[in-house]
Amino acid sequence: MKLATLSRRESLGAILALGLSGCEGYGAQDDTPITVPPLKSLASLPIGCAVMSAKLADPTTSTLLLKNFSQLTAEAEMKMAAIVAPDGRLRFSGADAIMAYAQQNKLRVHGHALVWHKHEPEAFLRLDGNKPAFTALYDNYIRGVMGRYRGRIPSWDVVNEPVNGDGLGLRATMWGRNFGDLGYIERAFQIARETDPSAKLFINEYDLELKPEKRLAFMQMMEALLKKGTPIDGIGTQSHINIDMPKGAAKAAFKDLASFGLPIHVSELDISFGHRRFDWRSVKTKRALQAEQMTDFVQAFMALPEKLRYAITIWGLYDSDSFWRVNPEDPNPDDEPLLFDGAGRAKPVTAAFANALGGIKSMTPANAG
Ligand code: G3I
Repeated sequence: MKLATLSRRESLGAILALGLSGCEGYGAQDDTPITVPPLKSLASLPIGCAVMSAKLADPTTSTLLLKNFSQLTAEAEMKMAAIVAPDGRLRFSGADAIMAYAQQNKLRVHGHALVWHKHEPEAFLRLDGNKPAFTALYDNYIRGVMGRYRGRIPSWDVVNEPVNGDGLGLRATMWGRNFGDLGYIERAFQIARETDPSAKLFINEYDLELKPEKRLAFMQMMEALLKKGTPIDGIGTQSHINIDMPKGAAKAAFKDLASFGLPIHVSELDISFGHRRFDWRSVKTKRALQAEQMTDFVQAFMALPEKLRYAITIWGLYDSDSFWRVNPEDPNPDDEPLLFDGAGRAKPVTAAFANALGGIKSMTPANAG
């Protein structure tokens, strides 16, 4: 680590932390093996995992996946960037591989994600502003993707991340330029409904727990869309949270989101070690905080009525696969956001997840708090 010049406060913090962590055994790696029951067996709702098709061929990965999870989300291969070729043709090799694996192993698949501001394929960019042609491509793309898996993918993220990152209003997107900021969302859901009436249609967003102002903007958008009759069947809260999330944030978010009476999918759960510029806490301390955060989060979700709990999806299998290690905007190669370490071992956060899931299942109506 480049020794940046530390302020007086940061230097004191460093000395204190090294001293304290010295008591705990600085960087103490508590390697006591942790065993958990198969996670999917602990709750009545599907427990999902984000996957890449290339990883499914590895027997160790497949064994760990099939033992613990009952639902899959394509981490990248069902999105526009993977599917829409520069000439507008649709490509499905990755998506088909995930579908084949899921079918072979009787796993449910959650479709992710039809329309997203981050993906603006060339084929669309060329037609930007040419309303008739852009509309035809937009509609045919949704029909082509959902139609291919009609009746085999029971739920889709139809629109991903429509609210501005700072929570101030809706994002300005190429989709919004052509159909209006709400219009592209309405159209996507209408075409999706026509294409596969059997699929539950979700709208998916991040930071709904961490940013109450963004949650408010999301809820205002939901109200406007539902008032227009947009066929939204569920809410996806991505839940990319971290060890420093304020206590009670998840409970407050679930209370607000549950007010729509729609099923909620915790769609991309991971708990990063946070984004502090200088973090002197030991790994052992961060793992303990992560387990506490997981307990609070899952207990808050599991306290919702069963009809509002669609599924919980973890955003990857091994820490080594986590997007947050390679995130171009803020990579952290030492982060441990997922449930299994690089060797497939369970961690304190895994035990916390299992206990919070199972705790509810073992509760009887008499002792349900
Ligand atoms: O498959 C190609 C490969 O052929 C190519 O050589 C390589 C280099 O360009 O790229 C590979 O595709 C990458 C893909 O992941 C599969 O690994 C893309 O570049 C890369 O951008 C993509 O990143 C994914 C990202 O979404 C964009 O789709 C991340 O894995 C995934 O974790 C992340 O997930 C998003 C959710 O969809 C929405 N919520 C936020 C979350 C994190 O950003």
